[in-house]
This record gives sequence, C-alpha cells and structure tokens, in this order.
Amino acid sequence: MKQDLLTFKDWSSEALTDLLALAAKIKAAPEQHNQVLAGKSIAALFEKPSLRTRVSFDIGINKLGGHMVYLDSQAGKLAGREDAKDTAANLACWADAIVARVYSHDTLVQFSQAAKVPVINALCDLYHPCQAVADYLTLQETYGSLDKLTLAYVGDGNNVTHSLLIVGAILGVNVVSVTPEGYEVDQSIFELSQKIAQKTGAKITQSSDVNAAKGANVLYADTWLSMGDETPLEDIKRIFDPYKVDEAMMALTGAEYVMHCQPAHRDLEISGDLIDSDKSLLMQQAENRMHGQNAILVTLLT
Ligand code: CP
Repeated sequence: MKQDLLTFKDWSSEALTDLLALAAKIKAAPEQHNQVLAGKSIAALFEKPSLRTRVSFDIGINKLGGHMVYLDSQAGKLAGREDAKDTAANLACWADAIVARVYSHDTLVQFSQAAKVPVINALCDLYHPCQAVADYLTLQETYGSLDKLTLAYVGDGNNVTHSLLIVGAILGVNVVSVTPEGYEVDQSIFELSQKIAQKTGAKITQSSDVNAAKGANVLYADTWLSMGDETPLEDIKRIFDPYKVDEAMMALTGAEYVMHCQPAHRDLEISGDLIDSDKSLLMQQAENRMHGQNAILVTLLT
C-alpha cells in the first residue's frame, strides 16, 4: 500500500529516527545512493513560490538517479482549471510520486485520496514536514543527539511551528512555542503534540512571554509576514518587535544557536548579524532540506 507524507502525525518515534539516520547516511555517502531512484519520475507541483524546496527536491532527486518534472500553478490555484483530484489522478498515471506545495491542506488530502502514488507535502497552510526533518537532522548533527534538547520557536505561530511541534514531540525534543497573544499556533495541533509527547517524555509548552524561551538550546525564528497578509508593516512590527531574535534575545535566553527556515527578513524577525554569526544554523538547515527529502523519497518509493 502506498504511503503519503502529509503531516508526520501518524509516524512512530522509531520510523522518524530511522528517517533521520537514513538522511545522515545518504548525506555521508551520496555515491552509494545515486541509483536508488533510477527510472523513477516525480511530479513537483507548486501553487506558491519557492527557492529552497523547489531546488532541493530537483537536485536531490537527480542525485538519487531519478527525474523531476516541475509544474508551477500557471494561473493561480489548481482548482481553477480542473478539480484537484483530477490533477492528482492524472499525474499518478505517469509519475511515481507527487510533491506538492499548496495553499490548503485540503488539496493535499484530495491528492492523497485520488493518486495511486505517494504524495509529499512540500508546504501547505498547516504543515511543513520536510522543513522539520531538515531542522531535526541539523540539531542531531550539531549536538550529536536529540536527547534533552529544548527548541524555542519565537514569533508567529504557523505551519513551520506546527511541524516542529509534532516532529519534536515524536522525537522526544522539548519544544516551546513563544508567540504574541492572538498569533498562537493552532490549538488542536498543539494539544495533539502534547498528547504525543506523553509517550516520548518531551515537554511541549507555549507562552506569550519571551522569558519562556530561557534555557532553550536553540532559538527558531520565522517570518512575521504571512503570504497575502495585508496588515501594515508598522502594525506587525509593533506587535512582534519584542519577539525579534537578535543578540539580546540570545543573551536573555542563553541559547547557543539560532535557526530559521528562510526566506529570512534581515533585521525584522531576526538580526542580520545573527544570521551571519557562528551561532547561525541557517545554511546547515538549507543544505539538509535536500538530504532529509531524499530520505523521505527513498523511504516512500523503495
Ligand atoms: N523554507 C522553505 O520552504 O523555503 P522556500 O519557501 O524557499 O521553499
């Protein structure tokens, strides 16, 4: 039976640990994996812009011996031309997997139901699972182990936060989500993460007080500017300025490293100096997007 990757919600700790181990193995010895996807074609469909996800999938698939066909949305949402389920069923006639970046998670659910091949979430409104794999791989490389680590997400509760919470809970990593009032993560996803964490011993917490990030090993920043949000920049700055990840925040919390999924807005949600400093894990995260995704492809397709 085909397996999709839409959220990671239903993955076990063992399966996720194995996925990270496979990503590390592929990264360490790419030449031993350069034919794993030989003869396989992956359709990658993007309703929204991308740099990292698009390029890392394309080059990553090539490095595994496979072939990627890139489809942009051409004229807005997919459903404008034909139903999402028809798009997915057609793509599955030719492709061995579908990678999709979509506006709505519901589109991925329709893809999953209609396609006879694996569907991989390359970001939707609720989740960014491929990003979370790269991020926890980066933490594992940096600390040697994920044991007893605490990650503090600081900023706007969003799809990246949701995936960091779910995957962190499954892997036993403590995650605290620090967001302004009114910008919290989806509470049903937060509660699910807490429930998962009961089995793994992870501490999953949230707060609107930046002091809640004190003691975290790593701070994680992301954009305050959600795509399509019409809120004036000055209003956003007024709300989010106390949550800016900079040297002062690093000193307050005692964090050793900073992460950001990118694209980053220098000197808005994160200081440019911090991005360029030796505390920055940003480029390691970006590189690991490819290795994490390659491990996902190998797991789902072979
Ligand atoms: N982090 C991330 O998904 O980057 P892109 O939007 O450039 O793909």
